[in-house]
Amino acid sequence: MVEQGKTYVVMGLLDQDSIAYATGKTITSLGGNVIYTVQNERMKSIFIDSKRSKMAEDERAALNIRFCDITIQDEVVALFRDIGPIAGVVHSIAFANPKTLLGQELHTDAIDDIKLAHHISCISLATVARFAQPAMPKGGSIVAMTFDTKHVFPMYNWMGVQKAALEALVRALARRHGRDMLRVNAVSAGPLATMAATKIPGFSQLSDVWNKTSPMPWDPVADKQAVANAVVYLLGPNSQKITGQILYVDGGASIMGGTLMDYERPLQS
Ligand SMILES: NC(=O)c1ccc[n+]([C@@H]2O[C@H](COP(=O)([O-])OP(=O)(O)OC[C@H]3O[C@@H](n4cnc5c(N)ncnc54)[C@H](O)[C@@H]3O)[C@@H](O)[C@H]2O)c1
Repeated sequence: MVEQGKTYVVMGLLDQDSIAYATGKTITSLGGNVIYTVQNERMKSIFIDSKRSKMAEDERAALNIRFCDITIQDEVVALFRDIGPIAGVVHSIAFANPKTLLGQELHTDAIDDIKLAHHISCISLATVARFAQPAMPKGGSIVAMTFDTKHVFPMYNWMGVQKAALEALVRALARRHGRDMLRVNAVSAGPLATMAATKIPGFSQLSDVWNKTSPMPWDPVADKQAVANAVVYLLGPNSQKITGQILYVDGGASIMGGTLMDYERPLQS
Protein backbone atom coordinates (compact mmCIF):
# COMPACT_ATOMS: atom_id res chain seq x y z
CA MET A 1 0.00 0.00 0.00
CA VAL A 2 1.34 3.45 -0.88
CA GLU A 3 0.38 6.72 0.79
CA GLN A 4 -2.62 8.33 -0.88
CA GLY A 5 -1.85 11.58 -2.64
CA LYS A 6 1.93 11.19 -2.24
CA THR A 7 4.24 11.21 -5.24
CA TYR A 8 6.46 8.30 -6.31
CA VAL A 9 9.12 8.40 -9.00
CA VAL A 10 9.21 5.24 -11.12
CA MET A 11 12.43 5.09 -13.15
CA GLY A 12 12.89 2.84 -16.17
CA LEU A 13 9.70 3.01 -18.22
CA LEU A 14 10.29 1.65 -21.71
CA ASP A 15 6.89 0.38 -22.85
CA GLN A 16 3.68 -1.20 -21.59
CA ASP A 17 5.55 -4.42 -20.80
CA SER A 18 8.05 -2.76 -18.45
CA ILE A 19 8.01 -3.69 -14.77
CA ALA A 20 8.06 0.10 -14.26
CA TYR A 21 4.71 0.38 -16.04
CA ALA A 22 3.05 -2.38 -13.99
CA THR A 23 4.40 -0.77 -10.82
CA GLY A 24 3.30 2.73 -11.79
CA LYS A 25 -0.20 1.52 -12.64
CA THR A 26 -0.43 -0.23 -9.27
CA ILE A 27 0.67 2.90 -7.41
CA THR A 28 -1.90 4.97 -9.29
CA SER A 29 -4.67 2.45 -8.57
CA LEU A 30 -3.89 2.80 -4.86
CA GLY A 31 -4.17 6.60 -4.90
CA GLY A 32 -0.53 7.62 -5.32
CA ASN A 33 0.82 10.00 -7.95
CA VAL A 34 3.45 8.69 -10.34
CA ILE A 35 6.25 10.45 -12.17
CA TYR A 36 7.83 8.05 -14.66
CA THR A 37 11.29 8.46 -16.09
CA VAL A 38 12.19 7.40 -19.61
CA GLN A 39 15.84 7.27 -20.70
CA ASN A 40 15.47 9.94 -23.41
CA GLU A 41 13.03 11.44 -25.93
CA ARG A 42 14.07 8.97 -28.63
CA MET A 43 13.07 6.00 -26.48
CA LYS A 44 9.72 7.63 -25.76
CA SER A 45 8.99 8.29 -29.41
CA ILE A 46 9.91 4.73 -30.41
CA PHE A 47 8.34 2.73 -27.59
CA ILE A 48 5.51 4.89 -26.22
CA ASP A 49 4.37 7.36 -28.89
CA SER A 50 4.67 5.26 -32.03
CA LYS A 51 2.11 2.88 -33.52
CA ARG A 52 3.99 -0.10 -32.08
CA SER A 53 2.86 0.98 -28.60
CA LYS A 54 -0.04 -1.10 -27.30
CA MET A 55 -0.95 1.65 -24.84
CA ALA A 56 -4.34 3.28 -25.30
CA GLU A 57 -4.16 6.92 -26.42
CA ASP A 58 -5.79 8.33 -23.26
CA GLU A 59 -3.54 6.21 -21.04
CA ARG A 60 -0.48 7.45 -22.88
CA ALA A 61 -1.58 11.06 -22.61
CA ALA A 62 -2.11 10.70 -18.85
CA LEU A 63 1.47 9.56 -18.16
CA ASN A 64 3.59 12.12 -16.30
CA ILE A 65 6.98 11.51 -17.92
CA ARG A 66 10.42 13.06 -17.33
CA PHE A 67 13.60 12.16 -19.16
CA CYS A 68 16.61 10.88 -17.30
CA ASP A 69 19.66 9.04 -18.58
CA ILE A 70 20.92 7.49 -15.40
CA THR A 71 24.56 7.70 -16.50
CA ILE A 72 24.38 11.50 -16.70
CA GLN A 73 24.60 12.78 -13.14
CA ASP A 74 23.33 16.26 -14.06
CA GLU A 75 20.09 14.71 -15.35
CA VAL A 76 19.55 12.83 -12.08
CA VAL A 77 20.31 15.98 -10.06
CA ALA A 78 17.89 18.06 -12.16
CA LEU A 79 15.15 15.43 -11.92
CA PHE A 80 15.06 15.33 -8.14
CA ARG A 81 15.71 19.06 -7.75
CA ASP A 82 12.71 19.99 -9.86
CA ILE A 83 9.94 17.62 -8.81
CA GLY A 84 9.17 18.69 -5.24
CA PRO A 85 8.63 16.37 -2.28
CA ILE A 86 8.29 12.65 -3.01
CA ALA A 87 7.64 9.56 -0.89
CA GLY A 88 9.64 6.99 -2.81
CA VAL A 89 11.58 5.93 -5.87
CA VAL A 90 11.55 2.74 -7.94
CA HIS A 91 14.82 1.98 -9.74
CA SER A 92 13.81 -0.39 -12.55
CA ILE A 93 16.81 0.02 -14.82
CA ALA A 94 19.48 -2.30 -16.18
CA PHE A 95 21.56 -2.78 -19.29
CA ALA A 96 24.26 -5.15 -20.53
CA ASN A 97 25.32 -5.39 -24.15
CA PRO A 98 23.82 -8.74 -25.18
CA LYS A 99 26.46 -9.26 -27.90
CA THR A 100 29.40 -9.16 -25.51
CA LEU A 101 28.11 -9.72 -21.97
CA LEU A 102 25.30 -12.27 -22.32
CA GLY A 103 25.33 -15.58 -24.15
CA GLN A 104 27.18 -18.85 -24.30
CA GLU A 105 30.67 -17.51 -23.44
CA LEU A 106 31.36 -15.72 -20.15
CA HIS A 107 34.87 -14.58 -21.03
CA THR A 108 35.07 -11.34 -22.98
CA ASP A 109 37.48 -8.54 -23.95
CA ALA A 110 34.64 -5.99 -23.77
CA ILE A 111 35.77 -4.32 -20.54
CA ASP A 112 34.17 -1.00 -21.51
CA ASP A 113 30.85 -2.81 -21.94
CA ILE A 114 31.21 -4.27 -18.45
CA LYS A 115 31.92 -0.80 -17.05
CA LEU A 116 28.86 0.63 -18.79
CA ALA A 117 26.70 -2.25 -17.55
CA HIS A 118 27.99 -1.62 -14.04
CA HIS A 119 27.30 2.11 -14.27
CA ILE A 120 23.73 1.66 -15.53
CA SER A 121 22.72 -1.44 -13.59
CA CYS A 122 24.43 -0.85 -10.25
CA ILE A 123 26.23 2.46 -9.60
CA SER A 124 23.16 4.40 -10.74
CA LEU A 125 21.25 3.23 -7.66
CA ALA A 126 23.74 5.14 -5.48
CA THR A 127 23.39 8.21 -7.71
CA VAL A 128 19.62 8.02 -7.31
CA ALA A 129 19.78 7.59 -3.52
CA ARG A 130 22.19 10.48 -3.17
CA PHE A 131 20.18 12.99 -5.16
CA ALA A 132 16.66 11.74 -4.36
CA GLN A 133 17.19 11.81 -0.59
CA PRO A 134 16.78 15.63 -0.25
CA ALA A 135 13.37 15.30 -1.94
CA MET A 136 12.37 12.98 0.94
CA PRO A 137 13.34 15.13 3.96
CA LYS A 138 11.12 13.14 6.35
CA GLY A 139 12.24 9.81 4.95
CA GLY A 140 11.01 7.53 2.22
CA SER A 141 11.73 4.35 0.36
CA ILE A 142 13.80 3.26 -2.62
CA VAL A 143 13.17 -0.08 -4.32
CA ALA A 144 15.47 -1.63 -6.94
CA MET A 145 14.90 -4.67 -9.15
CA THR A 146 17.16 -7.70 -9.06
CA PHE A 147 17.32 -11.32 -10.23
CA ASP A 148 18.33 -14.38 -8.18
CA THR A 149 22.03 -14.07 -7.33
CA LYS A 150 22.19 -17.25 -5.22
CA HIS A 151 22.38 -19.35 -8.38
CA VAL A 152 24.32 -19.06 -11.62
CA PHE A 153 22.11 -19.08 -14.71
CA PRO A 154 23.12 -19.94 -18.26
CA MET A 155 23.85 -16.93 -20.50
CA TYR A 156 23.03 -14.34 -17.81
CA ASN A 157 26.81 -13.99 -17.27
CA TRP A 158 27.81 -10.37 -16.59
CA MET A 159 24.30 -9.22 -15.74
CA GLY A 160 24.33 -11.75 -12.91
CA VAL A 161 27.51 -10.08 -11.68
CA GLN A 162 25.81 -6.66 -11.82
CA LYS A 163 22.85 -7.95 -9.85
CA ALA A 164 25.11 -9.36 -7.12
CA ALA A 165 26.84 -5.96 -6.89
CA LEU A 166 23.47 -4.20 -6.89
CA GLU A 167 22.29 -6.27 -3.93
CA ALA A 168 25.49 -5.43 -2.01
CA LEU A 169 24.85 -1.77 -2.81
CA VAL A 170 21.25 -2.04 -1.55
CA ARG A 171 22.66 -3.10 1.84
CA ALA A 172 25.37 -0.40 1.83
CA LEU A 173 22.81 2.28 0.98
CA ALA A 174 20.42 1.00 3.65
CA ARG A 175 23.18 1.44 6.20
CA ARG A 176 24.13 4.88 4.89
CA HIS A 177 20.58 6.25 4.72
CA GLY A 178 19.05 4.83 7.88
CA ARG A 179 19.90 8.15 9.55
CA ASP A 180 17.78 9.88 6.89
CA MET A 181 14.82 7.55 7.57
CA LEU A 182 15.28 6.45 3.98
CA ARG A 183 14.84 2.72 3.38
CA VAL A 184 16.52 0.88 0.50
CA ASN A 185 15.41 -2.58 -0.62
CA ALA A 186 15.15 -4.71 -3.75
CA VAL A 187 12.64 -7.12 -5.21
CA SER A 188 14.13 -10.24 -6.78
CA ALA A 189 11.69 -11.21 -9.52
CA GLY A 190 11.36 -14.42 -11.47
CA PRO A 191 11.63 -14.13 -15.28
CA LEU A 192 9.10 -11.70 -16.76
CA ALA A 193 8.29 -10.94 -20.37
CA THR A 194 9.76 -7.47 -20.96
CA MET A 195 12.03 -5.86 -23.53
CA ALA A 196 15.10 -6.27 -21.28
CA ALA A 197 14.27 -9.96 -20.93
CA THR A 198 13.99 -10.51 -24.67
CA LYS A 199 17.57 -9.25 -25.01
CA ILE A 200 18.80 -12.12 -22.84
CA PRO A 201 19.77 -14.95 -25.19
CA GLY A 202 17.90 -18.08 -24.17
CA PHE A 203 15.32 -16.21 -22.08
CA SER A 204 12.69 -18.82 -22.93
CA GLN A 205 15.02 -21.48 -21.50
CA LEU A 206 15.17 -19.43 -18.31
CA SER A 207 11.39 -19.57 -18.16
CA ASP A 208 11.60 -23.34 -18.68
CA VAL A 209 13.98 -23.56 -15.71
CA TRP A 210 11.29 -21.85 -13.61
CA ASN A 211 8.69 -24.38 -14.73
CA LYS A 212 10.99 -27.13 -13.54
CA THR A 213 12.03 -25.61 -10.22
CA SER A 214 9.39 -23.23 -8.92
CA PRO A 215 7.18 -24.80 -6.21
CA MET A 216 4.38 -22.50 -7.34
CA PRO A 217 3.41 -22.05 -11.00
CA TRP A 218 5.17 -19.07 -12.58
CA ASP A 219 3.72 -17.02 -15.44
CA PRO A 220 6.17 -14.53 -17.06
CA VAL A 221 3.30 -12.27 -18.10
CA ALA A 222 0.61 -12.51 -15.43
CA ASP A 223 3.04 -12.59 -12.49
CA LYS A 224 4.33 -9.11 -13.29
CA GLN A 225 1.46 -7.93 -11.11
CA ALA A 226 2.70 -10.00 -8.15
CA VAL A 227 6.09 -8.36 -8.58
CA ALA A 228 4.55 -4.88 -8.78
CA ASN A 229 2.55 -5.59 -5.61
CA ALA A 230 5.76 -6.43 -3.73
CA VAL A 231 7.49 -3.28 -5.00
CA VAL A 232 4.54 -1.23 -3.80
CA TYR A 233 4.63 -2.98 -0.41
CA LEU A 234 8.30 -2.04 0.03
CA LEU A 235 7.59 1.52 -1.11
CA GLY A 236 4.80 2.12 1.35
CA PRO A 237 4.47 2.49 5.13
CA ASN A 238 3.42 -1.14 5.77
CA SER A 239 7.07 -2.14 5.36
CA GLN A 240 8.27 0.64 7.64
CA LYS A 241 11.19 -1.08 9.41
CA ILE A 242 12.36 -3.16 6.48
CA THR A 243 15.60 -1.96 4.92
CA GLY A 244 18.57 -3.52 3.16
CA GLN A 245 16.52 -6.57 2.19
CA ILE A 246 16.00 -8.58 -0.96
CA LEU A 247 12.38 -9.73 -1.25
CA TYR A 248 12.01 -12.71 -3.58
CA VAL A 249 8.90 -12.80 -5.75
CA ASP A 250 9.73 -15.83 -7.84
CA GLY A 251 7.25 -18.59 -7.01
CA GLY A 252 9.86 -20.00 -4.62
CA ALA A 253 12.40 -21.08 -7.27
CA SER A 254 15.33 -19.46 -5.44
CA ILE A 255 15.03 -21.77 -2.40
CA MET A 256 15.15 -24.99 -4.35
CA GLY A 257 17.78 -27.70 -4.19
CA GLY A 258 17.39 -29.31 -7.59
CA THR A 259 14.31 -29.46 -9.75
CA LEU A 260 10.80 -30.43 -8.68
CA MET A 261 10.02 -34.14 -8.49
CA ASP A 262 7.03 -35.25 -10.53
CA TYR A 263 4.88 -35.64 -7.41
CA GLU A 264 5.69 -32.02 -6.39
CA ARG A 265 4.52 -30.38 -9.59
CA PRO A 266 1.68 -27.85 -9.33
CA LEU A 267 -1.73 -29.33 -10.05
CA GLN A 268 -2.85 -28.41 -13.54
CA SER A 269 -6.38 -27.06 -13.76
N1 LIG B 1 12.24 -9.02 -16.92
C1 LIG B 1 12.77 -9.86 -16.04
O1 LIG B 1 12.71 -11.09 -16.18
C2 LIG B 1 13.42 -9.30 -14.80
C3 LIG B 1 13.59 -10.14 -13.69
C4 LIG B 1 14.22 -9.64 -12.56
C5 LIG B 1 14.66 -8.32 -12.55
N2 LIG B 1 14.48 -7.54 -13.65
C6 LIG B 1 14.97 -6.16 -13.60
O2 LIG B 1 13.88 -5.27 -13.68
C7 LIG B 1 14.36 -4.00 -14.14
C8 LIG B 1 13.47 -3.48 -15.25
O3 LIG B 1 13.61 -4.29 -16.40
P1 LIG B 1 12.35 -4.76 -17.27
O4 LIG B 1 12.40 -6.24 -17.30
O5 LIG B 1 11.11 -4.05 -16.87
O6 LIG B 1 12.79 -4.32 -18.75
P2 LIG B 1 12.60 -2.93 -19.56
O7 LIG B 1 13.42 -3.12 -20.80
O8 LIG B 1 11.17 -2.61 -19.74
O9 LIG B 1 13.27 -1.85 -18.60
C9 LIG B 1 14.65 -1.60 -18.55
C10 LIG B 1 14.79 -0.10 -18.51
O10 LIG B 1 16.16 0.30 -18.29
C11 LIG B 1 16.30 1.52 -18.98
N3 LIG B 1 17.67 1.96 -19.16
C12 LIG B 1 18.71 1.31 -19.72
N4 LIG B 1 19.80 2.13 -19.76
C13 LIG B 1 19.43 3.30 -19.19
C14 LIG B 1 20.08 4.54 -18.94
N5 LIG B 1 21.36 4.74 -19.28
N6 LIG B 1 19.39 5.54 -18.33
C15 LIG B 1 18.09 5.36 -17.98
N7 LIG B 1 17.40 4.22 -18.20
C16 LIG B 1 18.08 3.20 -18.80
C17 LIG B 1 15.62 1.23 -20.34
O11 LIG B 1 15.40 2.42 -21.08
C18 LIG B 1 14.37 0.55 -19.85
O12 LIG B 1 13.36 1.52 -19.61
C19 LIG B 1 15.82 -4.23 -14.53
O13 LIG B 1 16.66 -3.87 -13.44
C20 LIG B 1 15.87 -5.73 -14.74
O14 LIG B 1 17.17 -6.27 -14.62
C21 LIG B 1 13.86 -8.00 -14.77
